[in-house]
Amino acid sequence: MTDAPAAIALAPLWDARFGEAAPADLPETVPPALARILSRRTMRRLKPDPVPDGLLSVLLACAQSAPAKSDLQQYSILVVRDPAKRREIASWLPAQPWVAEAPVFLVFLGDMRRGRQLGELRGKPNANDNVDSFMNAAVDAALAMETFLLAAEAAGLGCCCISMVRNHIDALAELLGLPDGVFPIAGFCLGWPAAEGRVSMRLPPAAVVHVDRYDDTRLPEVIEAYDRRRHARAPVAPGSQRQTERYGVAEYCPWSENVARQLSVPERAGFRDFLARHAIRLG
Ligand SMILES: Cc1cc2nc3c(=O)[nH]c(=O)nc-3n(C[C@H](O)[C@H](O)[C@H](O)COP(=O)(O)O)c2cc1C
Repeated sequence: MTDAPAAIALAPLWDARFGEAAPADLPETVPPALARILSRRTMRRLKPDPVPDGLLSVLLACAQSAPAKSDLQQYSILVVRDPAKRREIASWLPAQPWVAEAPVFLVFLGDMRRGRQLGELRGKPNANDNVDSFMNAAVDAALAMETFLLAAEAAGLGCCCISMVRNHIDALAELLGLPDGVFPIAGFCLGWPAAEGRVSMRLPPAAVVHVDRYDDTRLPEVIEAYDRRRHARAPVAPGSQRQTERYGVAEYCPWSENVARQLSVPERAGFRDFLARHAIRLG
């Protein structure tokens, strides 16, 4: 008989994640698997050491173990192995050197093409070429990506999702030969961590979790307190402040200010056009 894995104290995990004390009615300890999730962090500094192919295949199988809407499995995962293609993608993102450095780079794709092909193979029309299918494919791809990430982190690997590849979506689609009906949701760096990384403080559950009825009436005060907690522990460095050419460098630039700055300018305004050109209708 094997011993049950040791339970881990929740209080320090909660403090790191939320910057506040865990509510008194929570359990004092959690199983190691939950502790790992509560303390997870994105890893951008990765060692060049290879990830064994066998391990990568198991992680990809874990990704495919994610739930998928109606079992339609509307996603694909592209492993970018060709060094020339890796260099090309990295050259678009010089401010994100981890894209070049990661020993493994993947692209997670929403895939509406396979369903269309199944219709052709079975001699049936596809009456669901619409925005609902687009969202289902995006959600399937995101769940596969997250399941891959949790599996990789459980194996001791570090991960960083890369939505910035969508800033170069036409070049990416061309480079990777993405056919109609297939769209990237994010790139993905994988490798062995070269640093500790750090836990990024989240909004308090009070801002995110609603009971019985959506209620954000306390949002301003909840955000104000979160901003201060987060700034005290990990202030936004002047170099990480968004849109400084428009709004200047602020002495106090809390999370909500930086988010508002980011959302004040359109990001990837061409995405809808890309989808239209790749036969993805949003009707
Ligand atoms: C869909 C998605 C896209 C992301 N894109 C990028 C990216 O392009 N570059 C990057 O360095 N981090 C990227 N991230 C990582 C986030 O910045 C990170 O998850 C967030 O800051 C919270 O930090 P944590 O994961 O360490 O808790 C992305 C994360 C997600 C989920």
